[in-house]
Amino acid sequence: MATSTSLSPVFPMGSRLNERGRLEVGGCDTIELAREFGTPVYVVAEDDLRARARAFVQAGREAGHEDFHVVFASKAFPCTAVLALFASEGLWCDVASGGELHVALAAGFRPERVVLHGNAKSEAELRMALRHRVGLIVVDNFDEIDRLAALVAEGALADRDAGQPVLVRVTPDVRGETHEKISTGQADSKFGFSMAQAGEAIARLRAVEGLSLQGLHAHIGSQLLGLEPFRREAGELAKLGEFPVWDLGGGLGVPYTENQPSPPSIEEYVGALVESAHAQGMGPDRRLLIEPGRALCANAAVTLYTVESVKQNVSRWVAVDGGMSDNMRPMLYGASYEAHVADRFGESTECVLAGKHCESGDVILREALLEDPRTGDVIVTPATGAYGYAMANNYNGVPRPPVVFCRDGDARVVVRRESYEDLTARDVR
Ligand code: LLP
Repeated sequence: MATSTSLSPVFPMGSRLNERGRLEVGGCDTIELAREFGTPVYVVAEDDLRARARAFVQAGREAGHEDFHVVFASKAFPCTAVLALFASEGLWCDVASGGELHVALAAGFRPERVVLHGNAKSEAELRMALRHRVGLIVVDNFDEIDRLAALVAEGALADRDAGQPVLVRVTPDVRGETHEKISTGQADSKFGFSMAQAGEAIARLRAVEGLSLQGLHAHIGSQLLGLEPFRREAGELAKLGEFPVWDLGGGLGVPYTENQPSPPSIEEYVGALVESAHAQGMGPDRRLLIEPGRALCANAAVTLYTVESVKQNVSRWVAVDGGMSDNMRPMLYGASYEAHVADRFGESTECVLAGKHCESGDVILREALLEDPRTGDVIVTPATGAYGYAMANNYNGVPRPPVVFCRDGDARVVVRRESYEDLTARDVR
């Protein structure tokens, strides 16, 4: 029986197999966590989130840029406790809707540290942003310029004299290597102004009294494993003139499995961005923002499931109590994960790790290697901190899982499990 002792690097920092061969995350025994909080459950190592936030901030300083701010892309893990933790680390927050803005403010982000995005912002969302006077509104299209101008003229801005700072979102026609569904920098993207239109957008924004154009934004894609596209992005932005602020978006990839090509480190990534910005004239006297989402939280969490059945036909099917309701990524992007029995690490049995949902596509991992999986086992899939909770749903009436923070052996629920009552709570009779 092959029992591994060392853990794959995709687990949260500080994870280990304890003397009983059980996985510990944040000092907590995952078998006990499963017993106490039930499954499926998202388990977050609090220290890991903090360490990554600090690494990003520190990397900016070490690269020689003081006015450098790390803006957490809250869509990656839009949970109040996660946002509150990042707010306490001095990060800023990227929101892409009124709902995300609401959560960011509830988590304690000061409005001036909030950046609002969106290719289809509603009038109500723009009003909300202006009322709070968020740090930056990233303007995506000409209709939005007209809308903002009308709202400011009508007095929607809390402090008209101070003006509303805005950035122009540009699609720099730079393609990074990633899944088509999460690539955004190509010319034919639904986001931002083309390079050809950017000049006109800049001129029109400058002409609106009450708006204060600060600079440019671009986000070329997500789960990127190379640095070259980011360098090209900076080169393209520089063609549009000089500005006090650049926001270079997010996109740094993360390791989901031990065998995947490794992404650049946080330090390499930040170093490359700062260096490219400096080389393009955005020196240390300017403000640089980056918007990591995934790289701040993916590897900080694991999901625990319980095996409900094991059956054999052509394949060996190991079915757990969650699936596409708590992690859509394998189904949407063909994303790969690792899976292990939480108290029996090893790879003796080839199997398909399937979810509980009523369709064949609900497979978490097609080629799983688990150690003699049995009904009742706790299964762990690491690296589920980004875009798992965020895209969770109630398919098949499955209540969404709780979020549990672990630190130094203490566990606390920060989001409770949904109940059956929650499933009917919005009914109007
Ligand atoms: N900034 C903007 C404007 C974005 O649109 C995004 C992500 C980010 C920052 C953060 O990107 P990150 O650092 O996380 O790569 N649901 C997909 C990911 C969608 C990303 C959308 N935008 C997934 O599960 O892979």
